[in-house]
Amino acid sequence: MRAAEREFTEYTGGEPLGHVVYSASQIADCVARMGADIAAAYPPDADILMLGLLKGSFVFLGDLVRQIRRPLQVDFLVASSYGKGTTSSGNVELLYDPRAPMAGRHIILVEDIVDSGTTLNQLCGALVDRGPASFEICALLHKRIAPDLEWEPRWVGFDAPNEFLVGYGLDHGEDFRHLPFIACPRT
Ligand code: IMP
Ligand code: MG
Repeated sequence: MRAAEREFTEYTGGEPLGHVVYSASQIADCVARMGADIAAAYPPDADILMLGLLKGSFVFLGDLVRQIRRPLQVDFLVASSYGKGTTSSGNVELLYDPRAPMAGRHIILVEDIVDSGTTLNQLCGALVDRGPASFEICALLHKRIAPDLEWEPRWVGFDAPNEFLVGYGLDHGEDFRHLPFIACPRT
């Protein structure tokens, strides 16, 4: 068994699962680059609000904001589009709406992965309606399979394979979010 596979089974309680797609160090390099790009994209006095789309973005957001060396604020949105399966239900439910005001501010929506695009298509219009000074999306992974994505992410970490991925915040039936790397499970 290779080292990465052994590491994987420690996190799953011994169950052998798939293969590692992005290692922890590949992700760390990518997130550092994205953080520097975001910091450089705004004037020094811009009032930035990073909105993490939970639950999937929690690990990415935590790492990303620590790579953005400038003032900003953080809040969350909770949306649910997937049940326990591996395909989108096509229905996005907003379970938590941030209290933070958005009018006149620079909003960056932080998403773990863009798959069918349903989540972004259903949420972005409602956020833009709140009158931010600018609205951008930052996604760690993009499968590039969304048929009609109305808002393209300005920052994308990796163009992901069209496979179901877990780890670094991504789950399968709520499992595997805590993996420090991204893997393709055997389902
Ligand atoms: P979309 O609405 O189909 O674009 O999917 C968006 C949400 O579905 C993401 O924020 C994830 O929470 C979840 N999702 C999509 N693809 C995957 C995957 O490969 N693994 C785990 N979750 C996924
Ligand atoms: Mg999910």
